[in-house]
Order: sequence, then structure tokens, then C-alpha cells
Amino acid sequence: MKLTGWLIYNGGMATEKFIDLHNWYVKTAKTLQIELKPIANNQLFSQIENGQFKLEPQLAKPDFILYLDKDIHLANQLERLGMPIFNSAQTIAVCDNKITMHQQLAGAGLPQPLTIFAPMLFAQIKKPKSTFLDHVEQSLSYPLIVKEAYGSFGEQVYLIHNRTELDAIATKLIHRPHLFQEYIQSSYGRDMRLHVVGGQVVASMERVSSHDFRANVTNGAKMFATEPNDRFIELAIAASQAVGADFSGVDLLFDQNNEPIICEVNSNAHIKTIYQATSIDVSQFIFKHILAKLKGHSI
Ligand SMILES: Nc1ncnc2c1ncn2[C@@H]1O[C@H](COP(=O)(O)OP(=O)(O)O)[C@@H](O)[C@H]1O
Ligand SMILES: [Mg+2]
Repeated sequence: MKLTGWLIYNGGMATEKFIDLHNWYVKTAKTLQIELKPIANNQLFSQIENGQFKLEPQLAKPDFILYLDKDIHLANQLERLGMPIFNSAQTIAVCDNKITMHQQLAGAGLPQPLTIFAPMLFAQIKKPKSTFLDHVEQSLSYPLIVKEAYGSFGEQVYLIHNRTELDAIATKLIHRPHLFQEYIQSSYGRDMRLHVVGGQVVASMERVSSHDFRANVTNGAKMFATEPNDRFIELAIAASQAVGADFSGVDLLFDQNNEPIICEVNSNAHIKTIYQATSIDVSQFIFKHILAKLKGHSI
């Protein structure tokens, strides 16, 4: 039986790079007898009508949705309309915000750097409390890491060296959710990205930057395929499970004993860089996992 799926992407990200990526998923889906249709999030209108969930235009429901966007309200609406969606709206929401992600991982008792969340403050407050910043510097010492809750490609991650820089960044971010974190020096410019699909690690790469503490490839880090040891594999799987992901890219840091410590879980990790590093096509695993899960739900 031929299945139909929607690939939901962000309408503001219809660049060549993303269109190529969508075509890649469409092509893989085809080899598995799935007709996958890319749809931008802003082509679908979510509404509540007569107290009921409704979607316009009223299209035939797909068998599943591969959700590659972060429009959480739309994801939730589709889920409420009974469409199986991968990853779930809940997983996407948890991973989108680094604060909720760390809390979820802590709920599962998993190792992470010491992390302090900035309190939420309203617009009339212009400066963070110095007692709070005293607490941050006493707990973490310098250098320390500051991250915005919403960010990617390392662009919203900062290395802070002294109180002047701490005051400046904490004031700048005061009305944006952010966190302060222990700097794992042993992992300078180096981390491990493991792709987990359906409770298994399917591809892994190490990323190394010679010029920056951040090991993001988009930031100039070099990547190479690697065979992580069992501790890295087990932690990546546990992290992925803790956020309820069907598929994820888990970033692990190296502690001073070369043991893994969680940096973050990405619910929508890019499959192109890992393919370039390992020649492993993660999209195959994603669709096979979805098919197995749908079968379990007797579709
Ligand atoms: N606590 C930390 N200690 C050392 N390096 C870190 C720490 N947190 C992040 N990094 C480095 O910064 C990079 C980007 O951080 P990450 O939290 O993954 O943000 P993004 O979502 O922007 O990729 C990581 O891949 C890692 O190399
Ligand atoms: Mg990252």
C-alpha cells in the first residue's frame, strides 16, 4: 500500500539549500513507496471554529507528517486533528528552548554542565540583579558560557571572560530567555554529534574547530566520521529518549576524563553534514522508523 506524508517546513526558509533537503527526503520516501509532499507552515491555516480544531484548506489527511519546522502551534494543531507527527509537537517544543531541554534531561538524571537559568523579567527592569550575577560568577567562575534559549549554529552562544563582559551580556539579554553554564574547557572546539533514530545511534561524527570554542560546522569546524564508545552511544540514546524524540542529533561534550556530557539535543538535526562526513543517509532510517511506528499503530 502506498502511504502519503507531508513534509512541513518553514515558509520563510524556502532557500535553495532547504529545497534541496526537501527533495532529498522526497526521493528517499519514494524508494519506500511513500508519496511525500512538502508543505510550508504558512500554507496551512490553523483555527478553532465552533470550539473545534480546524485546518484550512481542508486537504485529505496524510498517513503521517515529517515535521521539519519549529512552528509549535501548527504542530500541536495537526496532532490534535489526529495526524501522526514526527517529531511530536512536545519534543519539538522541549528541544527548541535550551532551558526546557536541560530541565527535561535533568528529569531523566542525565549528565550536563552546571547550568543556571536567568530569571524572567518584565520590560520595566533594565538591569539584572547584581546578587544574581554574583551567584553566577561564584558558581561557574570564568570563563563561563552564556546561551540564549533559542538559537542555533552556535550563533547565540557566548564565552564570557570577566564581570564586565558578564554585566554587558546579561543586560543585553535581559528580556530574552537565556542561561549561564559551566565552560567544559576539555571540550574546547570539539564535540561529538550522534544521530539517534528510534532508539539507535545510526551515524556519528566528531567536529573540531581550531579557531573557536564552538564546534559547529557552519562556524568553520572540520568534521569526520567516528565510532563512539558505548558510553557516548548510551548517553545519546538516553538523551533522545528523555525528550521523547523519534529522531534527533545529540551533541555531546568531552569532560576532563574524555567521558561524555550532554551539550544539547536537536530535534531537527540536518542530515546533509552527517552525510558528507559519514556517507550515511539518515533519512532512510527516519522513514523506516516512521513506517515501523505506523505499523505498530496499525495504519
Ligand atoms: N558548556 C560548554 N562548554 C564548552 N563548549 C560548549 C558548551 N556549550 C556549548 N559549547 C560549544 O558550543 C557549540 C554550540 O553550542 P550549542 O549549545 O550546541 O548551541 P547551538 O544550538 O547554537 O548549536 C557546541 O557545539 C560546543 O562546541
Ligand atoms: Mg549544537
